[in-house]
Amino acid sequence: MANAPELTPTTSTALGVGPGPHADIAPFNIGPVRVQRPFVLAPMSGVTDSAFRRMCGLASTDTVGLYVTEFISIEGLTRANMKSAARLAFDATIENPLSVQIFGAEIERMANAAQIAQDAGAQIVDINCGCPAPKVVKRGGGAELMRQCDALARLVERTVGAVQVPVTVKIRSGWGADSINAVQVAKMVEEAGAQMIAVHGRTRLQLYTGEADWQVVADVAANVRVPVVGSGDVTTAEEAIWRARTPGVAGVMIGRAAIMNPWIFGQIDDLIHGKPQRVVDGAERLRVLRAFAEMAAERIPAHAIPGRLKQVLARMTKGMEFGSLLRERAMRAQTTEAMFDWIERFFVAADTGELETWAEAARVDAVQVSVAA
Ligand SMILES: Cc1cc2nc3c(=O)[nH]c(=O)nc-3n(C[C@H](O)[C@H](O)[C@H](O)COP(=O)(O)O)c2cc1C
Repeated sequence: MANAPELTPTTSTALGVGPGPHADIAPFNIGPVRVQRPFVLAPMSGVTDSAFRRMCGLASTDTVGLYVTEFISIEGLTRANMKSAARLAFDATIENPLSVQIFGAEIERMANAAQIAQDAGAQIVDINCGCPAPKVVKRGGGAELMRQCDALARLVERTVGAVQVPVTVKIRSGWGADSINAVQVAKMVEEAGAQMIAVHGRTRLQLYTGEADWQVVADVAANVRVPVVGSGDVTTAEEAIWRARTPGVAGVMIGRAAIMNPWIFGQIDDLIHGKPQRVVDGAERLRVLRAFAEMAAERIPAHAIPGRLKQVLARMTKGMEFGSLLRERAMRAQTTEAMFDWIERFFVAADTGELETWAEAARVDAVQVSVAA
């Protein structure tokens, strides 16, 4: 899943979403949990760890409606695997409300893993029925559950019975183009006690190709009483509001766009309230990246931080003038400090209009490094 293609922002002029107020964009409830703003940070494996989630909260000034963890293996959780257990860590002062997503196929293990997530402080437990990865579906989990409807219904029912917090389910539109069954699956999991259904409008076989089909999202919303959250291809604040107006839909998930732009939830909020769109200048980018590195350092070993930082930096600077030169120089850095040396000078130069000079120095450095090598 880490190989999912990046999204290209669309021009949003045709959507008819101008500055607010947009009074129709309303909170919703997942059982007793209030989702104050209907925009959800999507679960993304290898991306949405606690540091990333908090970075979105920080960049977007606490306007993320709901945070969802990356998926966590029920095998790992119930066998006390350290890596899986570490994924349960979160900071309730920012990541609130928090949904913990779990994946697997075994009924008792799913129920047990849900209890472990609840005990760790999850306000919601989400069951992954959309992961297309062969290693997950081969073992009966992720999108494979959409082909095993009866087993899925039992799985949801048992899990709902095992915890006090609401259980939700995230599905795709179906397995393949000739087996679109999101509505049928949604009705079954609602009957089994699921209190929210998130729908990514692509089939398992599509992986991340083509376009997300929001008609399937609307079809699901028209056929269940619980809230439905749509997912797929939202790139801008305008688009998020436009998608939130999909008939019957309670909320919108934002995944890849938040990697490029963790300010997006704040920008949505600005638009809804008719405020001027917040300026994301170099100083702000630097502040958020530094905070991310610090938060990552709380939970992951120092040697792993440059890698995580590179991932975020690569997406965040996509399309920026001289962004590729920054990425090229920063990617060579071995330590977090050395990376920030490049990042800081770049963002300062961006704000002072001295990027040409910065680029010249970067090119000279590149030549010197290659001559020395
Ligand atoms: C790198 C990556 C990892 C993902 N991991 C998960 C996951 O762990 N659980 C899940 O339900 N969906 C996962 N997804 C799917 C997203 O939650 C979302 O449904 C999908 O990316 C479409 O939304 P977007 O266009 O806003 O990114 C992942 C997507 C990406 C790009």
